[in-house]
Amino acid sequence: METIQRTKIVDVLKSTAYGSTVNVKGWVRTRRGSKQVNFIALNDGTTINNVQIVVDTELFGEEFLKPITTGASLSVNGVLVQSQGKGQSVEIQAKEIEIYGTADPATYPLQKKGHSMEFLREIAHLRLRTNTFGAVFRIRHNMAYAIHKFFHDRGFFYFHTPIITASDCEGAGQMFQVTTKNLYNLKKDENGSIIYDDDFFGKQTSLTVSGQLEGELAATALGQIYTFGPTFRAENSNTPRHLAEFWMIEPEVAFNDINDNMDLAEEFIKYCVQWALDNCMDDIQFLNNMFDKELIARLQGVLKEKFIRLSYSEGIKILEEAVAKGHKFEFPVYWGVDLASEHERFLVENHFKCPVILTDYPKEIKAFYMKQNDDGKTVRAMDVLFPKIGEIIGGSEREADYDKLYNRIQELHIPMKDMWWYLDTRRFGTVPHSGFGLGFERLLLFVTGMANIRDVIPFPRTPKNAEF
Ligand code: 4AD
Ligand code: MG
Repeated sequence: METIQRTKIVDVLKSTAYGSTVNVKGWVRTRRGSKQVNFIALNDGTTINNVQIVVDTELFGEEFLKPITTGASLSVNGVLVQSQGKGQSVEIQAKEIEIYGTADPATYPLQKKGHSMEFLREIAHLRLRTNTFGAVFRIRHNMAYAIHKFFHDRGFFYFHTPIITASDCEGAGQMFQVTTKNLYNLKKDENGSIIYDDDFFGKQTSLTVSGQLEGELAATALGQIYTFGPTFRAENSNTPRHLAEFWMIEPEVAFNDINDNMDLAEEFIKYCVQWALDNCMDDIQFLNNMFDKELIARLQGVLKEKFIRLSYSEGIKILEEAVAKGHKFEFPVYWGVDLASEHERFLVENHFKCPVILTDYPKEIKAFYMKQNDDGKTVRAMDVLFPKIGEIIGGSEREADYDKLYNRIQELHIPMKDMWWYLDTRRFGTVPHSGFGLGFERLLLFVTGMANIRDVIPFPRTPKNAEF
């Protein structure tokens, strides 16, 4: 076969160099044909769109074409011609075809469409080859890029926080332990507690639930930073919105109060959604048509409105009124309750019909580091609530006062030996500062319209599942 420089299918489809000979390589989506002519839809992952290869059946012979079935990989030399069929601009008239690898239809699991999402999760190693997951993971890449660009353009520094840690940032005790100890022969003290002196780090360590605490160290030196890394939570939540391993983006800004923090969160998330609409439209259009006819309208919707800002207490009042009028929630509503996703979505989807930023939550349901309000009951928290998702961002202004922070740590019995370095930010040159965390996969749920968080991360980790 003649050696010709490969052209990516995304570029071929935009080309008008009719009559020129090109090479494309990719995987067969479908082949259909007759005695005269065969049509191969070829995809190389560069775009949701396939290029159509037109094959003279006689020229190649039916025997040669037989193994070219869904999933087979090919290299094709051919002439670029303007397409006769509708819906595509160009096609390739094959001159030479090399079959790299076949995919026996008797065993290749991805045949025509119609596979359930559950089935595709069981073959997550191959689901990447479907149109749907191609679209999702091209969007995922684009969102990661947009996030770095957003912060870089605004003078934030990308700061790398450790994955192995000895402190529990969120204080929820949902951490995965990291140890090299022999679990069959654990050394214990006279009270039966495990001794960690001889463990790898000489103390008990875990996978991080958040990079925030170290992020604050950097923000109070570099001014404005963000983290973007893997995050681990051993919460046994089998929901369409929880993963045991997910990615979080955590900006932290010195001198920002909660209002600046809300402005940043709103600008940030709108930027990401706008970026998706501007750069991923083919994929979004596909997902809109396949799964969720409201997707594009919903994305455009959040860009239009200024997010509603109201306090947790006001939010509870609205929910209580809804209950009084006969609305049924699965979980109870009262001041002090940790809102469930159904409550958050009621405020966003039924009541305001627009994203909501809820502030000033009861201190009992929020982490120790949040700035305490003068009422003694609430803290300067802010959660951004989104349609279809519920909480997409959680953040706060931080407690900058050493004594108040110290006392809160004591009240919550957080071991002070883990916190001395964090407290030093308040001991030396303390400043007001704020930050938040965006769950990357929650953002992707929103942008792709996928219904389950397991379908926006390549290889999901959830309770009882760590395959691939
Ligand atoms: O509200 P969270 O727990 O806040 C923090 O971790 C803070 N340290 C953030 C900060 O202020 N720097 O988590 C932040 C976001 C949530 O709003 C949600 O989008 C996502 O992280 N998240 C999860 N995403 C997937 N699976 C899980 N188990 C998640 N837990 C939280
Ligand atoms: Mg939260």
